[in-house]
Amino acid sequence: MQKECNVPVSAVKHNAAVAAQIATRMAALGKTYHIEAYGCQMNAHDAETMAGIFLSMGYKKASSLQDADVIVFNTCCVREHAEKRVFGNIGALKKRKDENPDLKIIVCGCMPQQREVAERMYKRFPFVDMIVGTNELYMLPELFQRILEGERILHVVDIDGEIAEGLPIHREGTFSTCVNIMYGCNNFCTYCIVPYVRGRERSRTSADILQEVRNVAAEGFKEVMLLGQNVNSYAGDDGTVHFPQLLAMVNGIEEISRIRFMTSHPKDLSPALIDAIASLDKLCKHIHLPVQSGSDRILHAMNRHYTRADYLRIVRMLREKVPEIEITTDIIVGFPGETEADFQDTLSLMREVDYAAAYTFMYSKRKGTKAAAMPEQVEEETKKRRLQELNALQAELLQKGNARFIGTRGTALVEGCDHRSASMAYGRLGNNKMVYFPGDESLVGQMVDVIVTQTQTNSLIGRIATETNR
Ligand code: 5AD
Ligand code: SF4
Repeated sequence: MQKECNVPVSAVKHNAAVAAQIATRMAALGKTYHIEAYGCQMNAHDAETMAGIFLSMGYKKASSLQDADVIVFNTCCVREHAEKRVFGNIGALKKRKDENPDLKIIVCGCMPQQREVAERMYKRFPFVDMIVGTNELYMLPELFQRILEGERILHVVDIDGEIAEGLPIHREGTFSTCVNIMYGCNNFCTYCIVPYVRGRERSRTSADILQEVRNVAAEGFKEVMLLGQNVNSYAGDDGTVHFPQLLAMVNGIEEISRIRFMTSHPKDLSPALIDAIASLDKLCKHIHLPVQSGSDRILHAMNRHYTRADYLRIVRMLREKVPEIEITTDIIVGFPGETEADFQDTLSLMREVDYAAAYTFMYSKRKGTKAAAMPEQVEEETKKRRLQELNALQAELLQKGNARFIGTRGTALVEGCDHRSASMAYGRLGNNKMVYFPGDESLVGQMVDVIVTQTQTNSLIGRIATETNR
């Protein structure tokens, strides 16, 4: 369905002229949009681009789904659970469409990028006006104009490696925002559908990325999250700029205070990246490093290209060079063929690494992936039990591990005040931990030095550091 590696990168422009034409018709009508985004940060960020395009077409953000003239579902297909939710939620819109035939309904994102799923949806939901894949965001104004004229559209094209630059983005955050550095994934982990629905890796040019970071800084954002399915394999400017160099360039942008990035693949984590984390002052001392399993047998079957020992070596190196770094991870239980012994290996790895947070999942069979056809699929009951055990261990480790933060000092980017107590402000530390401390609204948006005094299960409590605390 898709072309193979080394896809050429070419920039395409959003059709601003069509958007402007629609805007002249729509602005006066006060029409509104509502976007529902499922799944990962990449999808949430795509939804911000769609919002930008709707605003450029003269639409306003609806106060809720119930009030909207256009409803968009930006879907996720990484696990079956997310797909089922979307099917249910789309079905529930039929009544609304019967009551208001002018309502426009759009389903887009990763689910319909699987052509068979798109066709199934098109038949099953005749009240949906448009079904589009992940690669056609820049065409939204043209496609939208056609549905306004009464057409019904199913538009899923092969992912061809183009990168659309210059699309308007309506950013939801106030101080922290995402900037895409690359798209797609070449790794084909055997359980994962992403390479099939997001296509091959393609990197934006460093100039485009730096310009966007400067733009968001000018809008008042203090923190950027550089996004990609596998940011360590960033290869911009015809492969001449790699991720550590890109980080150094972003670090040089004066108006930005803090840089995060996500997600890193252990097999591509280079010593140069570890050095960058250690030396670049604005780079947060946190890394999300999905391990997926602690068993070599399962890692091999998952096509992860590292062993448990490789992973632990990387963790050691990270902690040697960046002692204050916090590590978070993703783990799947119940991958086909996972025995009790394999699962014990995952539990012992979790103990050994002592993660700051772990996102844990039961393996979900994804049609078209290699693992879906593997024999020895694990029973649901076993998956559930293993997930519970894993989560219980993580909670126990977190409880004990939090003590190490007491007395430490860090800088929080203040996000707001606790709704239960306006005298408590909160913000995220560089290491990704949330900290609450006495403070008021005047601190929101500021970078504040805090000393940790107590811990809670998922967050810390502290007080503002004064010079004498130093
Ligand atoms: N089943 C369960 N979890 C999955 N993930 C990806 N594909 C699957 C699947 N088929 C998890 C991985 C990945 C995270 C984003 O989602 O842990 O890192
Ligand atoms: Fe999926 Fe593996 Fe690519 Fe991550 S690295 S998106 S888990 S195929």
